[in-house]
Amino acid sequence: MSPVPGITIDGPARRVCLDVRNPDFFRDPLPAYAALHAQCPAFFWEEQQQWYFAGYDQVNALLRDRRFGRQILHVATREELGLPEPKPHLKDFDALEAHSLLELEPPAHTRLRTLVNRAFVSRQIEQLRPEIEALSHAVIDTFEKDGKVELLKTYAETIPVTIIARMLGIPVEAAPRLLDWSHRMVKMYVFNPSFDTQVDANQASAEFADYLKGIIAEKRTMPADDLLTHMITSEKDGERLSEAELVSTTVLLLNAGHEATVHQIGNAVRTILQSGFPPAELFANAETTERTVEECLRFSAPLHIFQRYALSDIELEEGIALKKGDKIGLMLGAANVDPRKFSAPDMFRPDRNECANLSFGAGLHFCIGAPLARLELNMSLPILFQRLPRMRLKDEPPVKDSFHFHGLERLDLVW
Ligand code: HEM
Repeated sequence: MSPVPGITIDGPARRVCLDVRNPDFFRDPLPAYAALHAQCPAFFWEEQQQWYFAGYDQVNALLRDRRFGRQILHVATREELGLPEPKPHLKDFDALEAHSLLELEPPAHTRLRTLVNRAFVSRQIEQLRPEIEALSHAVIDTFEKDGKVELLKTYAETIPVTIIARMLGIPVEAAPRLLDWSHRMVKMYVFNPSFDTQVDANQASAEFADYLKGIIAEKRTMPADDLLTHMITSEKDGERLSEAELVSTTVLLLNAGHEATVHQIGNAVRTILQSGFPPAELFANAETTERTVEECLRFSAPLHIFQRYALSDIELEEGIALKKGDKIGLMLGAANVDPRKFSAPDMFRPDRNECANLSFGAGLHFCIGAPLARLELNMSLPILFQRLPRMRLKDEPPVKDSFHFHGLERLDLVW
């Protein structure tokens, strides 16, 4: 028996039982990750019935390995793989996924990614600096005098959703609806979502798509200087994006554009306040700020797991035989605390100068929003700590019961 609560490891057989709903695990997965690194960083997860990888080098290599993909139906049929037919109650959700950049493989992926990439390169994103700065201050102005705040719903959510909506040219007043649709949809990205969750996510997808079709129709008649208009009018190899592609890509950018960043802001503030490091030192200048942000991304990443399909029969170095269509799990959160790569990995050490974290993934699907997320974090965190130097945790913040999205339920602060 392993001494870490919630996990049982048979090291020699590389078999692991781990209940992701166990509060000991989802509140703080680092002890379980340490046990996996010590005993079997590549393992068969009994509850999920597939292989998972926790080691930094393994995860990094598998994310870049073109023998694996996020999609399988471009190289095999459902019948061939014994996959169930699409579920009618997920029709609208599936329709969005079918054209989502994140769910495509080349050549469809290359075509879509090239079209949106220009807007997200560092040079473009850098121009948002004054806007993010002004917005951060304006949001703090609304609660500074109160002496307390729940940070997630106020600050952490407002900044990313406002910025991505403005970039796309979606009215910022729609933010509450965008957040609601997004929250209902991302509940699908957990193990075995319930029937009710599926129905609700489908309903949210239908409403979201309808709303965007209206906005797209407006932009077609009244083009503006924004990313959505750019996507509508751009051509690649003589082809424009279809309406389905436009809607899917916009939904993905809006959802991915805030869900992870919100939780990273919350996780970072909690980590810093509990670390004992004086915020004034952590955010003394641009260089220390950047190191602090990268250490927060490593130590308290918001997204812990992504899956890939084997696109052919594959024999991995670790002696693991996969059949075409088998899924594997890549544990980014665990890779970030691999003791083979990071000294004292379970310690928050903003002065470390070791290898890069894997929080934004790697390879073909590497996060297109990484420069934007990094800028938002490098601006919003120092401004918050400078404006509220006496800020402290009101109590121990509750962690969300969600392994995939590692974040807080709420973050109550007082000063
Ligand atoms: C701290 C914040 C963020 C984290 C930790 C994060 C993490 C990730 C990761 C790990 C992936 C790769 C998934 C895979 O390989 O299967 C990804 C993809 C993606 N992210 Fe982010 N992300 C963040 C913020 C953003 C933002 C602000 C945007 C805004 C546009 C964004 C847009 C995307 C998109 C469009 C993809 C799909 C890229 C593709 O498939 O080519 N992300 N993100």
